[in-house]
Amino acid sequence: MSDHVFIFDTTLRDGEQSPGNTMNTQEKLRVARQLELLGVDIIEAGFPIASEGDFESVRQIAKLIKNCQVAGLARANDQDIDRAWEAVKVAVHPRIHTFISTSDIHLKHQFKKTREEVLAIAIEATKRAKKYTDNVEFSAMDATRSDWDYLCAVVKAVIDAGATTVNIPDTVGYAVPHEFGELISYIRKNVSNIDKAVISVHCHNDLGLAVANSITAVHNGARQVECTINGIGERAGNASLEEIAMILKTRKTKFDADTGIISEKIFPTSRLITSITGVPVQPNKAIVGANAFAHESGIHQDGLLKAKLTYEIMTPQSVGIPKSSLILGKHSGRHAFRDRIENLGHILDEKELNQAFKRFKALSDMKKNIYDEDIEMIIMDEIYKMPERCKLVYLNVVCGNKTIPTATVKLEIEGNIVQDVGIGDGPVDAAFKVIKKLVKATSKLEKFSVNSITQDMDAQGEVFVKLSEKGLKAIGKGADTDIIVASAKAYINALNRLEYVKSKRV
Ligand code: KIV
Ligand code: ZN
Repeated sequence: MSDHVFIFDTTLRDGEQSPGNTMNTQEKLRVARQLELLGVDIIEAGFPIASEGDFESVRQIAKLIKNCQVAGLARANDQDIDRAWEAVKVAVHPRIHTFISTSDIHLKHQFKKTREEVLAIAIEATKRAKKYTDNVEFSAMDATRSDWDYLCAVVKAVIDAGATTVNIPDTVGYAVPHEFGELISYIRKNVSNIDKAVISVHCHNDLGLAVANSITAVHNGARQVECTINGIGERAGNASLEEIAMILKTRKTKFDADTGIISEKIFPTSRLITSITGVPVQPNKAIVGANAFAHESGIHQDGLLKAKLTYEIMTPQSVGIPKSSLILGKHSGRHAFRDRIENLGHILDEKELNQAFKRFKALSDMKKNIYDEDIEMIIMDEIYKMPERCKLVYLNVVCGNKTIPTATVKLEIEGNIVQDVGIGDGPVDAAFKVIKKLVKATSKLEKFSVNSITQDMDAQGEVFVKLSEKGLKAIGKGADTDIIVASAKAYINALNRLEYVKSKRV
């Protein structure tokens, strides 16, 4: 029988804390529910001490999820650990995940502590967490730049103190696969009580090696991999869950290890994250990119027509990419609409379904074919809204080759209606200037892009806006058959998201 590799998903913690990937509680709950359906073993729901919002999200996820363990992150100190436990204790399977750095670089420059002091802190933290639960994970941050023997001493001590999972993070994405594999082997050989804990790995992608390092660690005996959907995470991201799961499935004989991931749920989960965060996946991304299964070359197409095996190592259906995407339209009913929504990874209650269906009907009066991308936009616009401090009530723009672009905008800000008029270099610029003035925003517009969601002449325009303010960033998305309206929606969405990010800052 093959070994089980635990999949520890940190999309809602390491993923969510990276720029542009902020989610509100409602969005996090949707993601958590989808991760449960996907079959992950552990959901790291957040960092409860970071803010009231984080605490509440972790607590609600802990309440909701029944079939996965739910972990809360805590630095190695009493307050963090107590707060993490307060948030996860309602879970069916709670876990406390505590961490401290073990590399001399971090000890000297960041913590200003000796190795002996950090060892003692790690033991105390593990013992405190253990008082609350048997399920304790300890992470030795920056493990890959730590002295191997000191790292082994810390790992042994925290297992003695009660840790049941010991995580070896490549925090700065510095390791290379053969070296990381050797480190895992070294720990297995040199930590006398290692059989009492699961070895976990947590790799960042700074050198593009997060997945390769994680897989090499599994080959060398690691039995938990920490990863995120679409590989989102700090800087260049974390190891991508979908790649890890499909490597272990496609090359099973090389590892003799299984995960509990239901691979057919991978694509809908990836789409869910993209539609919530607005951060697109690169087209050539393995497993879930738009081109991951697109064969362009004539030789490949010829081979595929003769036998799929020639150039296809896994099928698109095995990762949940629908065989053909039936286009919906004016005559499609609620049933077909609900079906499509579920295939796209969204679980809506009756009220939300009615709301989305109403918008779908309105859109199908304006455009003939409704594609998956249109439906995702409807859900994002209607259902997955951030708390809306500001709403667009009315927009009118006048523009042309002999006219000064002028925008009249009416907004509802915290229940009050405000309105103004202004000019700009173009209709979008005019609209943005008026919105900015009405909202009294001080953020900087960093990026603005317009795409057509689908291919038809009546396609909706999809607009992305990126704003920054004092080191904080937020992405907004908007769609409409009118691109000026889509732009205004995206700008307002980004302003609302920025407000939310500001409210979460500790
Ligand atoms: O990258 C890292 O070291 C972490 C730890 C908190 C596990 O995210
Ligand atoms: Zn990390």
